Amino acid sequence: MEVVIVPDAVAGGELIAETIAALLTRKPGALLGVATGSTPLPVYEALAAKAASGAVDVSRARICQLDEYVGLPAGHPESYRSVVLREVVRPLGLGEDAFMGPDGAAGDIAAACAEYDRALAEAGGVDLQLLGIGTDGHIGFNEPCSSLASRTRIKTLTRQTRQDNARFFDSPEEVPHHVITQGIGTILEARHLVLLATGEAKAEAVALAVEGPLAAVVPASALQLHPHATVVVDEAAASGLKLAGYFRDTYAAKPDWQAI
Ligand code: F6R
Repeated sequence: MEVVIVPDAVAGGELIAETIAALLTRKPGALLGVATGSTPLPVYEALAAKAASGAVDVSRARICQLDEYVGLPAGHPESYRSVVLREVVRPLGLGEDAFMGPDGAAGDIAAACAEYDRALAEAGGVDLQLLGIGTDGHIGFNEPCSSLASRTRIKTLTRQTRQDNARFFDSPEEVPHHVITQGIGTILEARHLVLLATGEAKAEAVALAVEGPLAAVVPASALQLHPHATVVVDEAAASGLKLAGYFRDTYAAKPDWQAI
């Protein structure tokens, strides 16, 4: 696992957008897995700016969702389908045909989950999966004690996650209890995992995920199992890392030819 400590969220967004741009230059039809929430917004802004300036051609990129609320009415502005279309797909000038996600309104949720895992595999697998981290250590919506081998399935949000996400809804009670999330096993199949964490509120979860033992109680610790995982953190989110000095030295001494 590589840990890159950046000065702030904007620098993190720029670094990850550069990485995505390099991927799309190498592989124009790459499948990008995107997270929602506040943290990845600087990535999407930086990538859209690169696309607008012609620095990268994103016209063949494909976008896939990581998770989705269950039971929100179709077209709800906070469904993750709506959010990804609004924040990623349209700003990149892509159409809905370039986008895939699980169906949170399906009558048969279990079948929709299995179908999404199949669709990801048929699409050739995710090339780069962008992740955030919950204050409880979740990735996607794999809450603590999710199986490290889990596949896409329905999960129940913790009280803490529902409180954390209440800011997106008119009232806290409106945050759905249930979600569909790519499983940890599904996420680990992506070729490159990039987790971005910013702000003091994430410091404890980041330290446990990066330096703690591999444990289902900290789902993000599953990144320790992946051969190409990059954790990008700002100074505040890095504040609990015992090895911060080593991570800084390693990144400063990184050979020019070696990307994150
Ligand atoms: C949502 C997702 C979640 C968020 C996490 C952090 O698609 O994958 O794991 O990344 O809840 O959310 P923010 O960035 O809003 O703090």
